[in-house]
Amino acid sequence: MEKKWWKESVVYQIYPKSFQDSNGDGIGDIPGIISRLDYLAELGADVLWLCPVYSSPNDDNGYDVSNYRDIMPEFGTLADIDLLIKKAHEKGLKIVMDLIVNHTSDENPWFIEARKSKDNPYHDYYIWKDGEKGVLPNNWESHFSGPAWEYVDELGQYYLHIFSKKQPDLNWENEKVRKEVVEICRFWLERGIDGFRMDTINFISKVPGFPSVPGKSGLVRGHDFYMNGPRVHEYLHGLYESVLKDYDIMTVGETPNVTPQIALQYVGEDRGELNMIFQFEHMLVDSYDGGKWNLIPMDLFRLKEIMSKWQKEMDGGWNSLFLNNHDQPRMVSRFGDDGKFRRESACMLATMLHTLKGTPYIYQGEELGMTNIALDSIDQYQDIQTINFYHDQLEKGIDPEKIMAKIHYRSRDNGRTPMQWSDEENAGFSSVTPWFGVNPNYKTINARQQMNDSNSIFHYYQKLIALRKKNPVVVYGDYKEYFEDSHQLYAYSRTLDDTCLFVFLNLTGSDADAAIPESLQLEDPSVYISNYGRETFTRSLKLAPYEAYVVIGKIRS
Ligand code: NOJ
Repeated sequence: MEKKWWKESVVYQIYPKSFQDSNGDGIGDIPGIISRLDYLAELGADVLWLCPVYSSPNDDNGYDVSNYRDIMPEFGTLADIDLLIKKAHEKGLKIVMDLIVNHTSDENPWFIEARKSKDNPYHDYYIWKDGEKGVLPNNWESHFSGPAWEYVDELGQYYLHIFSKKQPDLNWENEKVRKEVVEICRFWLERGIDGFRMDTINFISKVPGFPSVPGKSGLVRGHDFYMNGPRVHEYLHGLYESVLKDYDIMTVGETPNVTPQIALQYVGEDRGELNMIFQFEHMLVDSYDGGKWNLIPMDLFRLKEIMSKWQKEMDGGWNSLFLNNHDQPRMVSRFGDDGKFRRESACMLATMLHTLKGTPYIYQGEELGMTNIALDSIDQYQDIQTINFYHDQLEKGIDPEKIMAKIHYRSRDNGRTPMQWSDEENAGFSSVTPWFGVNPNYKTINARQQMNDSNSIFHYYQKLIALRKKNPVVVYGDYKEYFEDSHQLYAYSRTLDDTCLFVFLNLTGSDADAAIPESLQLEDPSVYISNYGRETFTRSLKLAPYEAYVVIGKIRS
């Protein structure tokens, strides 16, 4: 297997609006990020992925870009981002930026031009359908509720928006659009960044004809006609050949609705497309029919099955390992226990992410075990998807309490509360009331407290990352699963040459008996990491709730 820096790295994801405010406007910003670089270096992160910082009217917190070559004024200036790149590089940290090119903002000059007339040179930058007002071109739905089409009276046409109506989809069939994207990439790569996370990049090729979807659809209606569409590989390969291949960078595509076989078409080492993708199969273990709001009880056995499947079936590709991000609930609240066993379960889940094969991603605050938030009223929420969902359900006559219960569990805002730096006012995030409420538990869950506590989740992450750097087996070792049928244990080994790492994870809140299989004999085995402070090797043991027990040794031949 080819050795690459991005395989050996740990990525830390920053949601700039909620990371650190430096100028007292209640909104996180780039100078704020700069002021926290030492913290990130101390944690051991190698790469910082910045969620969008481009100019944007913020209908979807920056995922609606109005100028790809400038910075949102609330976040700073181009000079600030240049300084961030420079300072990060000085500390050995790389910078990856979000690239949002499935759609733009409707306030992007391209769209402002495009909607002026059908013969405007920018008209064909977007996807239009002639039609009568009130008669939609097809029955596709937006990911943010309602139809995926918006009518423009002056043109007598609809435009497609897979997300909000302020996020019109770009027409990648138009070669000029593809060239624009190449130039945007070059602009940022020349500024010195180290890669891109590509937003919903498997949506860029739509099936021609835009057919309606027959019958009911679990996931958003219409998705089959634009996810992994007919020309997506041609487009991505073209982008790679035109610009990406000239730089030593990392690329990770956000690609919902892929199987390992489809994923390999994006990331196969001989494909010349992307380095990694984010797959989301494991983000659907607590819902049915692929619908994010169709909630069912969490099934951790299913989680283990999916994680293991991706480990086994991505041969010739590379996995991204994550359990939360800015679109998902907090990992410890969802897959662990954010009450009694918060520390233990957060560390156990982290152990999984940092011992499976792939690049681990840490979402800001995860390293502190930050938790979900449950706000009383919809008026306190900020996320467009959450707010639209609430009103859509209300219109359908659903009981508001039931809607709020779903929002408490699944809203994207769970992950967007300000970073908890200290127990000072506003959690040390800002000197004024932040744009979005701080989780009241910041008095006990915060970075300052954890940095001073050697037993904290922060220090556990720090240790996991440091161990990864010293032990190539964690990066490049082969994966093998044990006790597949166990509903309590997730057990696997990683092997490189004669070194073997053996991992036991108790996924549950009850004790679990475990024993390393006799077939595996280790010489000089030692404890690699333990979230219960175990120091001596033992072959069989009773694992405590959410215990992670990892050993390392040489395989006896
Ligand atoms: C995926 C992003 O992660 C999400 O936050 C955003 O709303 C959509 N793509 C649309 O850009």
